[in-house]
Amino acid sequence: MPDNNHSKTAELIIDDKKYQLDIIEGLEGDKAIDIRGLLRNTGYTVYDTGYKNSAACSSTITYLDGEKGILRYRGYAIEDLAERCLFIEVAYLLLHNKLPNREELESFRTLLEEFALIHEDMIHFFDHFPPNAPPMSILSVMVNSLHNYYPEMSADPLENIDKTATRLISKIRTIAAFSYKKSIGHPLIYPRNDLSYCGNFLNMMFNTPVRPYIVLPEVVAALNKLLILHADHEQNCSTSAVRLVGSAGGNLYSSISAGINALWGPLHGGANEAVIQMLEAIHKDNNDYKKYVAKAKDKNDPFRLSGFGHRIYRTYDPRGTIIKEACNGLLAVLNVKDPLLEIASNLEEIVLNDEYFVSRNLYPNIDFYSGIIYRALGIPTNMFTVMFALGRLPGWIAQWREMREDPETKIFRPRQIYIGSPKREFVPLRERK
Ligand code: CMC
Repeated sequence: MPDNNHSKTAELIIDDKKYQLDIIEGLEGDKAIDIRGLLRNTGYTVYDTGYKNSAACSSTITYLDGEKGILRYRGYAIEDLAERCLFIEVAYLLLHNKLPNREELESFRTLLEEFALIHEDMIHFFDHFPPNAPPMSILSVMVNSLHNYYPEMSADPLENIDKTATRLISKIRTIAAFSYKKSIGHPLIYPRNDLSYCGNFLNMMFNTPVRPYIVLPEVVAALNKLLILHADHEQNCSTSAVRLVGSAGGNLYSSISAGINALWGPLHGGANEAVIQMLEAIHKDNNDYKKYVAKAKDKNDPFRLSGFGHRIYRTYDPRGTIIKEACNGLLAVLNVKDPLLEIASNLEEIVLNDEYFVSRNLYPNIDFYSGIIYRALGIPTNMFTVMFALGRLPGWIAQWREMREDPETKIFRPRQIYIGSPKREFVPLRERK
C-alpha cells in the first residue's frame, strides 16, 4: 500500500460542496489522488478511457519513469540486468524479489529442467490446428490447457505458486518450439537438460534429425538479453489482462492465457511483427519512406508507424536503445547483412527530425529493432510475438501473484457512462415494422 500518511489532500468542489481527497505517494514520488470513496461520497464516477490517468494498483515489481527513460525491475536498472544476468536470474528476481545466490539459482535451474517436458497427450493438440494457425493462438490455447494436466492450484491458488510458476516458465518454451516445428511439418525436438534455458529453446526450434544445430554462444547471449528486456513493464495491456482475469479468482494458467491474447494485438506485442511487415513494405516500395510517414500522419488513415510511440515513454525507450546496440553487434558477429536494418535506421532518422513525431514525443520503442535480431537468429516473423510472451511470462506471474496477495485487490470492474437509447416500449415480433 503506498504512503498516504501525510497532510496533503486535494479539494474537489461539486455543486458548491467541498470534498477532501487524500493524496498518496509512491516510493519514487508517483503522486495519485485517492478516489476510492468518490462514487460513494459524491455520486460521481471518473471518465478515463484507456486508463491513461488511472493507477489500478500499487506494485513493488517494476519502476518506470517515462520522462527520463528509466526502467528498473525490483529496484535494479534494466541496463545492469540486461548486461550482467541470465534470463532465469531475472525471472527469479521478479518472482522472489531478490537476485538468487548460487544455490538458489542452481535449484531453480534444476526445477526448470525437471519441468521441461509437456504431457505427451498435449502433443496431439498440435495436430488439430489448421495449417498456418497463428502461433500466438496456439500458445494461448496450450497454456490454458495446462490447467487440465497440472491442476494443483484448484483448491488454493497460492499454495503451489512457486512450483506452478517454474513449471510454466519451463513449459512455455517447449510449447512455443513445438508449435513452430508442427507448423513447418518437422519432427519435434525434445528439451535437453545439458543446455541452458535459451540454448535449449534454440535447439528445440532449429535442430533437425538431418542437420544438427550448433548452439552459438553469441546467439544464446542475444536471446538471453532480449528475454530480459521483455520480462516486465508494469501495468501494460497484457499485464492488466492477467490481473483482470486473476481478480475474478481465475487460475494462473487462464490468466496468463488472457495475457497472451492481449499481447497479440498490433498496438502491443504484435507490433514487433507489424514492424517487419512495414519495413518489408517500404523496401518493396523502393524505400519510399515519405509515403509511409505521410500515411502515419494522415488522420483519415488508420496506418501508424509500428515500433514508434509509447503510452508512458516521452523519450527513448531504454529497452529500444539496448536492443538497437545488440542488434548492430549481433549482425556484425554473425556477418548477417539485413537490408531492413538500414531501412529501420533511415526511418528512425526521418521520424526523429519530423515535427509531427517530435511534438508528440514519439520515439522508437522496444519493438522497433527486436524483429531484426529475431530474423538474424532465424526466428520466423509469425513467432516474434511468441518470443515477447516467453520474455514477459515471469513478469505476468509476479504481477498475478502480487495481485492475489494484495489485501487491497478487488475484482476489476470499471464503470461506464451510458449513452444509449432511453427506455423504449417493447414491441412484439408480429407488430414490428
Ligand atoms: N504513428 C503515428 N502517430 C502516432 C503513433 C505512431 N506510431 N503513435 C502515436 N501517434 C500519435 C497519435 O495519432 C496521437 O496523435 P494526436 O494527438 O494528433 O491525436 C498521439 O500520437 C498520441 O497517441 P495515442 O494513440 O493517444 O497514444 P497512446 O498512449 O494511446 O498509444 C501506442 C500508445 C503505443 C498504442 C501508440 O503510440 C501506437 O499505436 N504505436 C504503434 C504501435 C506500437 O509500436 N506498439 C508497441 C508499443 S511498445 C511495446 C508494447 O507495449 O507492447
